[in-house]
Amino acid sequence: MLYKRTHMCGELRLADEGKNVVLNGWVAKARSLGGLVFVDLRDKTGITQITFNEDVPAEVIEKAKTLRSEYCIGVKGVVRERSSKNPNLSTGDIEVFADDLMIYSVSDTPPIYIRDDDNVSDDLRLKYRYLDLRKNKMQRNLTMRHKVVKCARDYFDENGFTEVETPMLIKPTPEGARDYIVPSRVHNGSFYALPQSPQMFKQLLMVAGTDRYFQVVKCFRDEDLRADRQPEFTQIDLEMSFAGVDDVIEVQEGFIKKVMKEVKGIDVETPFRRITYAEAMERYGSDKPDTRFDIELKKLNDLFEGCGFEVFTKTLAEGGDIRGICVPGGAAQFSRKKIDKLVDEVKHYGAKGLVWIKNDGTAFTSSVSKFFSEDELTAVMDRFGGGSGDIVFIVSGTAKVTYDSLGFLRRRIAGLMGLLDDNQFNFLWVVDFPMFEQDEEGNIKAMHHPFTQPKLDELDKLDTDILGLRANAYDIVLNGVELGGGSVRIHDKDLQARMFRALGLTDEECQEKFGFLIEAFKYGAPPHAGLAYGLDRLVMLLLGEKSIREVIAFPKNQNAECPVCEAPAPAGEGQLEELGIELAAECE
Ligand code: AMO
Repeated sequence: MLYKRTHMCGELRLADEGKNVVLNGWVAKARSLGGLVFVDLRDKTGITQITFNEDVPAEVIEKAKTLRSEYCIGVKGVVRERSSKNPNLSTGDIEVFADDLMIYSVSDTPPIYIRDDDNVSDDLRLKYRYLDLRKNKMQRNLTMRHKVVKCARDYFDENGFTEVETPMLIKPTPEGARDYIVPSRVHNGSFYALPQSPQMFKQLLMVAGTDRYFQVVKCFRDEDLRADRQPEFTQIDLEMSFAGVDDVIEVQEGFIKKVMKEVKGIDVETPFRRITYAEAMERYGSDKPDTRFDIELKKLNDLFEGCGFEVFTKTLAEGGDIRGICVPGGAAQFSRKKIDKLVDEVKHYGAKGLVWIKNDGTAFTSSVSKFFSEDELTAVMDRFGGGSGDIVFIVSGTAKVTYDSLGFLRRRIAGLMGLLDDNQFNFLWVVDFPMFEQDEEGNIKAMHHPFTQPKLDELDKLDTDILGLRANAYDIVLNGVELGGGSVRIHDKDLQARMFRALGLTDEECQEKFGFLIEAFKYGAPPHAGLAYGLDRLVMLLLGEKSIREVIAFPKNQNAECPVCEAPAPAGEGQLEELGIELAAECE
């Protein structure tokens, strides 16, 4: 037997008083007090208190007394005003006086508490994810994700985009992470790659005349996991023909405006601020700047030329930089012990140390006071417009080390000082990225991907200053997180060939990797541009969550395992044989 539900558990209000209702859900809490039984009944919308009192038949109250946490039940009853209201519940003004009860299934004692504030380990939460997801918070997160996807589908549909699925079993894409590969049974010894993104296929769709494409699509990247990275994640991916930077940005701002209004009820101002990559690095030490607080980097090289502190003079002699940040009101907040912890943290970004100068109102104290006069320390403070009560942190090293360390530090400190407001949404565009970067071995590689169009009036830099060549590439950033990235693409096959050569690819390698795209460009490729959002990251930030795992139903753990189904797992003997694969002895 199944009770036909009339309402959801989070829906009932005082206006429903007197109504006969039927609710289905799970027992969040059951208390027996003599002849009375109180049950908190939960479904994905919330909790309603059910009361079984002496008015119900004896067999019903006896059944109610057997209820335990997570039993799945149905209840029939009448809505009544509650005498002692519960302001913490949306349904706190009412209770349902039950007159009948159906137990659909009983439950063992659950291994985790199903409460939003439960602090159980992530491992246990992920193993029993189907119980973890019963929490109202997690259901709210899934619902928010659904709403964002629906909003994307509506918006892009209204703006002439067609959702097209692209294949999952492909050749490697050029996004730069490691691929997940899938062995072929039909072609023993050959492998498919799972897509790191639909990049090349969406460009083929432009050649095909699709004009405006989008897709909500799974992508796979075998890279180190972080709070905002998963091996499989979802993109809202799109591409537009006959479009340049401004066209893409305009359409995307419309999308963000709609999401923010429909999902958060917030009107965001457009156009968003645009900042060049060079300015973002110089002012914020990051290509995804968090602009919710005012701490900015300043270059200090000129102040330390010929100074008595050898670490700085050596850095300058080696062509390095000295940069710092000033934290207003930070002098009292950062004790030696707290600073030592920050020193350890910036070491992960290559900093050898962290120099600090405090102005406590009457005097300067500093980790390097014996090397500098009061005048010199004052000059540093003045560079930041800093004064009484402030602290300056300084890092010396390569430009990259100073950017990375201070970029990290300004956000870390803002977090420690409570300056990161989850309800403030600072969207911005970072534009004019460099076309190329150098990896640790000194090889030139594409910063975005090799189909990105360089700035056409800077092409001579390909031969003279390759790292100075900028691209028509852009990222959308929200509160220090890269939400999405894209670019105008090369649609000219000769320019594409030049870029491949600059990346050190031989004609054979290009043919092998991207031959089908190069071939397609022979047949009337339209100018095109696009972008992809990380859906998980967008939803995470809209919810103020700290990890994308909180917005993915069944995420992978830190070791890239699925704790629910226990993937990855060894393949069956017969399967490997069919695939022509033999395991190395150490994998057995
Ligand atoms: P990109 O590599 O910048 O661009 O990826 C686009 C967006 O996808 C999200 N993202 C991730 N989210 C979670 N886990 C990951 N491991 C992960 N990796 C990336 C980020 C990122 O901004 N094809 C191009 C787009 C284009 O040029 O149109 C691409 O994939 O939010």
